[in-house]
Amino acid sequence: MDQSKTPLFSGLKQHIDKKPVQFHIPGHKQGKGMDSEFASFMGSQSLAIDLINIEPLDDLHHPHGLIKDAQTLAAEAFGADYTFFSVQGTSGAIMTMVMSVCNPGDKIIVPRNVHKSVTSAIIFSGAIPIFVHPALDDQLGISHGITPEAVNHACEAHPDAKAVLVINPTYFGVTADLKQIVNIAHDYGMPVLVDEAHGVHIHFHERLPASAMQAGADLAATSVHKLGGALTQSSVLNLKEGLVSHERVQSVLSMLTTTSTSYLLLASLDTSRRHLAVNGKEMIQQTLNLADEARRKINQIPGLYCVGEEILGTPATFDYDPTKLIISVKDLGVTGYDVEVWLRRHYQIEVELSDLYNILCIITSGDSNREITLLIEALTHLAGEAARNSKVDSVKVSVPDIPLLALSPREAFYASSETIPFARSVGRISAEFLMVYPPGIPIFIPGEIITQDNIDYINENISAGLPVQGLEDDTLETIQVIKEHRAFK
Ligand SMILES: Cc1ncc(COP(=O)(O)O)c(C=O)c1O
Repeated sequence: MDQSKTPLFSGLKQHIDKKPVQFHIPGHKQGKGMDSEFASFMGSQSLAIDLINIEPLDDLHHPHGLIKDAQTLAAEAFGADYTFFSVQGTSGAIMTMVMSVCNPGDKIIVPRNVHKSVTSAIIFSGAIPIFVHPALDDQLGISHGITPEAVNHACEAHPDAKAVLVINPTYFGVTADLKQIVNIAHDYGMPVLVDEAHGVHIHFHERLPASAMQAGADLAATSVHKLGGALTQSSVLNLKEGLVSHERVQSVLSMLTTTSTSYLLLASLDTSRRHLAVNGKEMIQQTLNLADEARRKINQIPGLYCVGEEILGTPATFDYDPTKLIISVKDLGVTGYDVEVWLRRHYQIEVELSDLYNILCIITSGDSNREITLLIEALTHLAGEAARNSKVDSVKVSVPDIPLLALSPREAFYASSETIPFARSVGRISAEFLMVYPPGIPIFIPGEIITQDNIDYINENISAGLPVQGLEDDTLETIQVIKEHRAFK
């Protein structure tokens, strides 16, 4: 196949070149019917391809022309048998994966540190999660993925589970041995679904961890928008034939997708695929060179540690993505969030995320020596200031225990609930999610028993200024818990 072709994007351009007179939505009609400041900001070309599924532009719900051709090229580029475009991010693709393989009451093996979209899919489908505890790194205060041994154990204990879901790589870029996990799950006849939100690029360079399709997984939900150059919200769902039906996936994806699919997003998927397939390897090599240099220099700054290949060698840290700079700041005696705010205030630098102990900076082909030099200058300045003010010892890492599940997330979500003060919720079953966003991994989910440990951890995040969210009460003073029926007044 000719990966330099972009059937959908080219088709859109040919369509607008014919200057059609449009009596269809979107009513802004190439920007003429919208707010003029916004229209001129967006530019006439992008507004002209903000179209809908008219002839000859095909239909994402029943692709048979330009979209089908674009998806077929993408499947070849990603090493899949089928690729489906998602205009609802990887969240939409993840929900599709889970709902394609689980009926109500079916078991699914999942890491506990999954993204909210997995738990939402479990609630929608009525599946029963069999949680596998991820390996915790108590030096860094982050969780990694699940190990092959833990997957084996879960499969042995629940051979009737319908699938295993794995995060590969994690937000921080770390992976377990995915090929081994796939072999274990396949021995039990279970398909492997991969949350590949942070790994679109790993397929295109041999120094990066194996992608889901390279490891033989059955489905992978992959954010092209995060690290593959597409517009925000644009993702793909890759499928390898065998254990999961592509017809079922198409119909579930369609059930979960808007009928007004954005052609800006679809065209950005088509062109990002071309860019990755044609230029990916070279582009990633340059990114790796920049990231290696940044890591080396950061590790020369007193009080900072940028994670490198020395973390490899455990079952949970089989491989990693060096383009992610995990920078541990705890030895400066400050939180990751303090550093995030300091970098914004003094250098207008925006990091990808911060937590209590780290900041995460992602390096992509959009970066150059200029950005790396500025980051090093800023971190050197910060470390100098911290050393001058330092009366504080380095911060002690604590990671909360994972709560126990008392009800299935769906039962808890639909059970009658009551509102009580959050501070007095220990021992009660949560009817809500609570998470720090980013990364959007729940601290607890509906059905879990709230512990003092969780409350302390949440309070620590709130007082550090981190974005704790998810409760209906956004002041976080009250929480919905499952109503308890008492025999006596
Ligand atoms: C691990 C993980 N999975 C899934 C998602 C959802 O991806 P999207 O934002 O493309 O819906 C995210 C988003 O941050 C994520 O971090």
